[in-house]
Amino acid sequence: MVLQLEGVSLRRDGKWILQNINWEIKKGEHSVLFGLNGAGKTAILNLLNAYYFPTAGRVTVLGMEFGATYLGEKLRKQIGFVSSSLQEKLHKGDNAFEVVLSGAFASIGLYEVPTDEIRSKAITLLETLGCIDYANQNYETLSQGEKQRVLIARSLMTDPSLLILDEPTNGLDFIAREQLLETIELIAKRPDAPTMIYVTHHLEEILPVFEKTVLLKDGKVFSSGNTNRMLTSESLSQFLGIPVEVTWKNNRPLLSKLKSAIEAENVR
Ligand SMILES: Nc1ncnc2c1ncn2[C@@H]1O[C@H](COP(=O)(O)OP(=O)(O)OP(=O)(O)O)[C@@H](O)[C@H]1O
Ligand SMILES: [Mg+2]
Repeated sequence: MVLQLEGVSLRRDGKWILQNINWEIKKGEHSVLFGLNGAGKTAILNLLNAYYFPTAGRVTVLGMEFGATYLGEKLRKQIGFVSSSLQEKLHKGDNAFEVVLSGAFASIGLYEVPTDEIRSKAITLLETLGCIDYANQNYETLSQGEKQRVLIARSLMTDPSLLILDEPTNGLDFIAREQLLETIELIAKRPDAPTMIYVTHHLEEILPVFEKTVLLKDGKVFSSGNTNRMLTSESLSQFLGIPVEVTWKNNRPLLSKLKSAIEAENVR
């Protein structure tokens, strides 16, 4: 089991952000966490990273139960985390290579001297993710798409068992997004692939490798199960509270809003 949330609730500043979340992920079961703005997606990720502690319930990640021991650094080295929120925390002035290197220490910025082995691993990952051409460029000056690739390379430095991608296509244009999704698919298909959690509110980004989906709404699990069963017109119309249609093209779902009866009448 990679992840086990049992009856997890989270209260912050007097407000229930998550309520009675139950979620299990087995090794190799790439999963999607889908929900609208404010559903609680980032709150769950903060729990998984041990940045937040649950108000109630149990969180077990990679066999380690929170609260039982201090998990901070040990856990963070086994979890790769890619999020645009990380970008604000990176050291100003670091180049792409240094940002990737820092992943080896699960730290922001370099506090330890990297060994030759670590340096060559960073170079290999920069090559794999197609970032080698801008390895020496100041990270801050990279485009959004380039930055996201660098962050994925960084997250893979510790060979994590779990890789969390929090809206990784934020700010990317169509081409950059599709390139990034191709890369994610390649990583997923590697024999030593980490189990991946893909967090998004864009349906069309959900790749076929993500077999399981959790629909999160107002801090609660609305439903969960096999992706193809979660992403139907019926299920999503209920979830979103408006009539929608899901169509599949090239194994990818597309979401469109159906005209309500009143709108259809007005058009006529
Ligand atoms: N520390 C906090 N104190 C009070 N409310 C909070 C706190 N952190 C998050 N929230 C609230 O909890 C809810 C869930 O927030 P969260 O950031 O997890 O949403 P999200 O699903 O990641 O949304 P988005 O898609 O917009 O990123 C929001 O209504 C947010 O305002
Ligand atoms: Mg969020």
